[in-house]
Formats: sequence, C-alpha cells, structure tokens
Amino acid sequence: MTLQNFTTWLYATPFASTIRDVPWIIPAIQSIHILAITIVVGSALVSDLRLAGVFATDAMPNVVIRRYLRWMWIALVVLLITGGLMATGEPDRVLTNTTFWLKMSLIVAACLLTWFFRRPLLHPGFHLEHARWRPFVKPAAWLSLAVWVCVIFCGRWIAYTI
Ligand code: HEM
Repeated sequence: MTLQNFTTWLYATPFASTIRDVPWIIPAIQSIHILAITIVVGSALVSDLRLAGVFATDAMPNVVIRRYLRWMWIALVVLLITGGLMATGEPDRVLTNTTFWLKMSLIVAACLLTWFFRRPLLHPGFHLEHARWRPFVKPAAWLSLAVWVCVIFCGRWIAYTI
C-alpha cells in the first residue's frame, strides 16, 4: 500500500470524518496539543538550562532532571495522541507534508538527546563530574533547546507548506 493509498483510505474512514466534521473536535485537540507543548518545552528549557550551567545552579543536575523528565514523557504521549488525531482528520494534507516529517525527525532527535544525556543522571550513584562524556553535556543541552524550538516552528509551518 502506498502512502497515497493509505491517506485516501484513512480520509474516508468514519473516524476521520468525525474528527473533521464535528466543529469542536479540532479546536479542542489543538488546545490540548498546545498545552502539552508548554509542558514539554518548559521542562526541556529548565532541564537544558541547568545542564548548560545557566539556571538553577544551586540544585544538583540530577534533582532538576528527575523533577521534570517524567512530565516531559507524559506530555510527549499526549502530543503523540493529539497530533495523531489531527493527522487522522486530514491525512491527505498532513502525512504528505515534508515539514510534518521534518518535525517528526526533529522530535526523534530531541528524544534521543534527552534519553542519552539525562537518563544516566537518574541512576543512583552516578556523578556527572566523573562521566567521560561530560564535555558534551553543555553543547548537547543547547542543541536540545535549538531542536525543540525548530519543532515548534515546524509544527506551525505545516499549515503553510506542502
Ligand atoms: C509527538 C508527536 C507529534 C505529532 C504526531 C504532532 C502532529 C501535529 C499535527 C498533525 C499538527 C497540525 C498541523 C496542521 O494541521 O497544520 C500539529 C501542530 C502543531 N504542533 Fe505538533 N505533533 C507532535 C508533537 C509536537 C511537539 C513535541 C511540538 C513542540 C514542541 C509540537 C508543536 C506543534 C505546533 C506549534 C503546532 C501548531 C499548532 C497550531 O497552530 O494550532 N508538536 N502537530
């Protein structure tokens, strides 16, 4: 099945028609999507700025990471569900859109950065000062923030690109 066939099939399903035709569904999903964005990006901002050494420097990095990481994963699941619903409503426009796939790739990149540089900090007994990859922590934190900002731009641009 090609992507074109899949989007045509999905568009015609009663589920996709309901998402498109009931007037309050899309605005409600978009509102939840935006609220979840504030949680993901807010958590990333505080955690990355701590790892970059410019914010909350009076707290241990692992304390800050532990506080926000769980919220980040929960909000990402909410984004996946709400984003998936929006894509289901208009698969012909969204799933064939290059900005949408660029956004998905950037989300994977941001999640990988989060996973590799924050998960180890949660292990009891782990000390960042002794980690071999310590020199990469600050650049990775700034890169992670830049990637999240690009994700936001891509999200908004889906509507204006093909
Ligand atoms: C995790 C999976 C995600 C999926 C499947 C997804 C999917 C979508 C879809 C389909 C749209 C509607 C685009 C349109 O119709 O024009 C959208 C909008 C948007 N997304 Fe996501 N998204 C996800 C995560 C994220 C994340 C992590 C962010 C930001 C950190 C984000 C930021 C945005 C923004 C800013 C919009 C525009 C909202 C608006 O103008 O109403 N999305 N997303």
